[in-house]
Amino acid sequence: MLGTAYLWVKTLHVTFVISWMAAVFYLPRILVNIAEARDEAAVRQRLIDMGRRLYRFGHFIFGIAFLLGLTLWLYFHISGGWLYAKLALVALLLAHFTWAGRLVKRAAKGQPLPQPRTLRLMNEVPVLLLVGVLYLVLGKPF
Ligand code: HEM
Repeated sequence: MLGTAYLWVKTLHVTFVISWMAAVFYLPRILVNIAEARDEAAVRQRLIDMGRRLYRFGHFIFGIAFLLGLTLWLYFHISGGWLYAKLALVALLLAHFTWAGRLVKRAAKGQPLPQPRTLRLMNEVPVLLLVGVLYLVLGKPF
């Protein structure tokens, strides 16, 4: 029996990953709006500022979610093949978030963005990755 401390660490872990996933889902949406607000400079600037703040906030939140996950893994000794597969998918989610953040910085420099259609397609990738992460951690299939 792992006790209350384990339960609190896991509760906080899930709370912070939910908050991070909100940023992972929302940042590409902001990018689509930046790409579509081509000629509206004020709207575009407001969206770029929002994107930048969300990107910074997202990295901070991920850091805490990661430390809590490490505590579950290394302090409470919860591990298995499922965790390594989960971490691989989490790395892809982090790569997607970093890609979106870098595009916001590019837009801030006035550099061109991918087409809104491409950005919309890329917007769906985190959903698929999250389903994989949750199946692995809840089912622990291997
Ligand atoms: C998108 C990122 C992540 C999501 C959505 C996520 C989701 C979850 C969920 C829902 C649980 C509870 C599972 C259960 O009660 O059976 C959990 C537990 C856990 N997570 Fe994460 N996690 C994420 C990132 C991480 C990272 C980065 C690590 C490691 C550094 C990690 C390590 C763990 C461990 C060891 C557990 C404990 C499993 C258990 O107690 O059965 N997670 N995670």
